[in-house]
Amino acid sequence: MSNTEATKPAAGAGLAGQVVADSSISFVDGAAGILEYRGYDIRELAAHSHFEEVAFLLWNGHLPTAQELAEMKAQARACRFMPPEIISALRNLPKDAEPMAVMRSAVSLLAHYDPESEDNTPLAHQHKACRLLGQISGVLAAFERIRKGEEPVKPRMDLDHAANFLWMLTGEDPDPLAARALDQYLLLLAEHEFNASTFTARVTASTGSDLHSAITSALGTLKGPLHGAAVQEAMAQFLEIGSAENVESWFELARAEGHRVMGMGHRVYKVRDPRAAPLMANVESMAQSTGEREWFDIARKLETVAMQDPYFQERNLSANVDFYSAPLLYSLGIPVNTFTPMFAMSRIVGWTAHVYEQQANNRLIRPLANYVGAHQLPWAPIEQRG
Ligand SMILES: CC(C)(COP(=O)(O)OP(=O)(O)OC[C@H]1O[C@@H](n2cnc3c(N)ncnc32)[C@H](O)[C@@H]1OP(=O)(O)O)[C@@H](O)C(=O)NCCC(=O)NCCS
Repeated sequence: MSNTEATKPAAGAGLAGQVVADSSISFVDGAAGILEYRGYDIRELAAHSHFEEVAFLLWNGHLPTAQELAEMKAQARACRFMPPEIISALRNLPKDAEPMAVMRSAVSLLAHYDPESEDNTPLAHQHKACRLLGQISGVLAAFERIRKGEEPVKPRMDLDHAANFLWMLTGEDPDPLAARALDQYLLLLAEHEFNASTFTARVTASTGSDLHSAITSALGTLKGPLHGAAVQEAMAQFLEIGSAENVESWFELARAEGHRVMGMGHRVYKVRDPRAAPLMANVESMAQSTGEREWFDIARKLETVAMQDPYFQERNLSANVDFYSAPLLYSLGIPVNTFTPMFAMSRIVGWTAHVYEQQANNRLIRPLANYVGAHQLPWAPIEQRG
């Protein structure tokens, strides 16, 4: 064994607590429950801003002037065009295909129809990020309609991103409250430092690969139940509970059987996720508007019950971003197995910002493993192996 091998630091499971790069895109203080995008507190942004403005902020590092925002919105609307070949491909997929897998395949396919897919210059990156922002929402809405036997709906240029998505999904003028709630959701999930999928995107970008490859990698990572798919499992859990009266008995059984409460706990936040409060407020507004309160009531009660439990207190387990995202998306009429692609529809902004940051100051990301296997084994011919 070489000296390098002997002096390697021990690996922390899951890279927990390890700093792997400098970044100026977002700041997370897990102990204080603070999230900032480019220096702006997420609660301030949720109260005053909207998704497209935040996309500009994350991509460019400053809030836009009125003229910059107008230009950005015009550019983003022009990016909603979907190559017809992608719609044909979506029609040919199995109707029961997993929407997140569809999204992953579609982004990979979109590269073939993007004139700048192999161009990694900053200008090409900006164009591709804009196109992916528009196209991802288009893929999601189109596949949702195709699998229900309906025709995809063309985007509208007069609507903001969230409202246009609801339009493409339903073919109906979007309800302003629903559009506002979705806009807030997209804003709140747009970026979150070095989470698993963002890290994946940066690893792919660090090899000099293209943006579509980086986003395809990120989508594969987001698909997992400990990351992006937790929101779907959180909703499945609320549906299983069924009514606020059942929360306590459900919780006792879950604890007795050692099941995790989905939408609780976080690798970085040791207090309530700062995105939970604005998401919860939107769930409540939607519940008041639709008259369907049960999912809001179940979530509120489950959070209260969990926060009183010593197991959750001792481990600093609190509501994370998924806990209230689940009932919010449900109240917007989004099918549960499409919740994770909705996450991607928002996070595409953060991923593309990180790929740009990685490319702007790149060094190949190539960590080490702490090898714990055997060494220098003797070769045995196949007939002598037992
Ligand atoms: C997010 C998550 C993966 C973080 O994981 P992590 O930082 O690796 O933490 P661990 O899995 O090591 O959990 C630490 C302890 O808390 C417990 N725990 C973590 N999340 C829990 C949950 N949601 N419900 C019950 N117990 C939980 C673990 O069992 C472990 O207990 P132990 O120390 O007695 O073994 C984890 O909290 C989780 O699985 N949450 C549910 C899924 C979810 O909502 N994911 C979305 C994240 S935004």
